[in-house]
Amino acid sequence: MTPKSIERKVALITGANKGIGFEIARQLGRKGMTVLLGARDEGRGQEAVEKLRADGVDARSIQVDVTSQETIDRAARRIEKEFGRLDVLVNNAGIFVDDAPPSELDMKMLRRTYETNLFGPVAVTQAMLPLLRRSLAGRIVNMSSGLGSLTQTSDPGWVSSHLNLLAYNSSKTALNAATVEFAKELRGTLIKVNSADPGYTATDMNHYRGTRSVEQGARVVVRLATLPDDGPTGGFFDEDGALPW
Ligand SMILES: NC(=O)c1ccc[n+]([C@@H]2O[C@H](COP(=O)([O-])OP(=O)(O)OC[C@H]3O[C@@H](n4cnc5c(N)ncnc54)[C@H](OP(=O)(O)O)[C@@H]3O)[C@@H](O)[C@H]2O)c1
Repeated sequence: MTPKSIERKVALITGANKGIGFEIARQLGRKGMTVLLGARDEGRGQEAVEKLRADGVDARSIQVDVTSQETIDRAARRIEKEFGRLDVLVNNAGIFVDDAPPSELDMKMLRRTYETNLFGPVAVTQAMLPLLRRSLAGRIVNMSSGLGSLTQTSDPGWVSSHLNLLAYNSSKTALNAATVEFAKELRGTLIKVNSADPGYTATDMNHYRGTRSVEQGARVVVRLATLPDDGPTGGFFDEDGALPW
């Protein structure tokens, strides 16, 4: 019989078939967690899982398109059946599709961005919460961005304030608001909810122009996903500490 305390923790990371999400899965897996790699495309998810297994990580692929309630609900049912609980949820999947200034941005782009970057994480969180409530240390990390900080983007002196991206930036601001509201609802439970900024990280999203490696980008997320019981909730952090909203 395996005592509960030495059972592997179970983590779900959305959009984990590549980029920072894949690296988060690798780092959590190396810490001994069973990692469920969420991917909207099953083939891409399976390929990623095989790479991590070759690295000795207990990785499984799970189909989750964060814009499809059906795949989200199916994933929750599967996790319930196979593990009976979830310890870590990283809402990592995100898109960046701004191609015009705010005055000219096609409303379709704004809606598409919100579907993936805001409604997706909220829907996944709602579906996974019953499973997270069964964990002895539930942790939710929402993948935000420094571009979601109104304090930073409205400061002309901030290094990236020239990036006038109505859809992307405001979707991450709204995701930060969701972090605050979920954290308030879950205060008094064993679940902590925080937002993370990985910094400007070289991935497909920015055609590898980012100045940080995925190893560096994943670090703050892994820290928030493994916070001790007296750690913070309802906050926004990068690798160096708390960020302004
Ligand atoms: N890179 C940076 O500098 C940076 C900075 C701040 C914040 N972030 C945030 O970090 C997160 C990861 O970004 P990244 O840089 O690693 O980008 P990436 O390499 O483009 O990875 C994005 C991931 O999200 C997945 N995804 C997109 N739409 C999805 C959907 N509807 N359902 C499920 N998965 C979906 C993608 O899947 P497919 O392969 O199927 O497209 C991919 O796995 C994003 O939330 C991003 O906003 C990135």
